[in-house]
Amino acid sequence: MSWRGRDVVSMRDFSRGDLEVLFERAREMERYARSGLDVLRGRVMAVAFFEPSTRTRLSFETAMKRLGGEVVGFSSAEGTSVEKGETFSDTIRMLDAYADVIVVRHRLEGAARLAAEIAQSPVVNAGDGSFNHPTQAMLDLYTIWREKGRIDGLKIGIMGDLKYARTVNSLLEGLSLFDVEIALISPEFLRPRQETLDYVQSRGLRLRAYTRLEEALGELDVLYVVRIQKERFLDPLEFERVKGSYKLTAESLRGAKDDLIVLHPLPRVDELDASVDRTRHAAYFRQAAYGVPLRMALLSLVLS
Ligand code: CP
Repeated sequence: MSWRGRDVVSMRDFSRGDLEVLFERAREMERYARSGLDVLRGRVMAVAFFEPSTRTRLSFETAMKRLGGEVVGFSSAEGTSVEKGETFSDTIRMLDAYADVIVVRHRLEGAARLAAEIAQSPVVNAGDGSFNHPTQAMLDLYTIWREKGRIDGLKIGIMGDLKYARTVNSLLEGLSLFDVEIALISPEFLRPRQETLDYVQSRGLRLRAYTRLEEALGELDVLYVVRIQKERFLDPLEFERVKGSYKLTAESLRGAKDDLIVLHPLPRVDELDASVDRTRHAAYFRQAAYGVPLRMALLSLVLS
């Protein structure tokens, strides 16, 4: 299916072929991530961020500007007419009137799907609720493909808050398009949602659950770490129970394969120690940097 004019709301809407087209385009875009490529001149991207962000918003904005386009929008509802009581739907209608593509982040699950139903222009989900962050998953998969030269055949550990981290949910959905083995490493309480597990297993994804990193580490080609999503816990006492329950350090990576890469969508808090930065395994800052060419690729495909 063509990327042109498409909404990017959930990884479930994309095939392996779609991702391969995206990765090839992103690889080309790496050449232009600094110098620019004037293919979206006169096009406007609206960013509607109702939740905080550093990487997603700024890499989308950089990507659009590097492609010669313009950016309008807001990084918080503060200062917009939402403060006067304007609804989400009306806000999206307005952005649809002004822009050629709308990038939305919202704390409520389903917000991006609703925006896509309202807007004529393509809508890109920059993270909504604790379930979907498709462009982060595309970036994570691109990083693996780029750093390892392939995705098929790899053993991938995913460690941390697998329940509330939307990046994990979208990444599992994306990985279900490939022939990989997954080690889920987390406290019992932070296992992924059953609905996600059922979905990815029905597509043939092989999963094993562990509570300790040491049980899986030696086999892994990729270790993806996420922070505990404090802001998504409904009960603060539940957060207190699991807070600090895992932490990756340089020391804890002893026993890893030499070419293991450690990924993290960032921001990190205390689950990924700075000592890991100095190891050959650290790939998370390169991962964040790939966000610009990957999002240049996505915007150029959707708006071409
Ligand atoms: N990875 C990610 O979504 O980071 P931001 O919250 O800074 O956008």
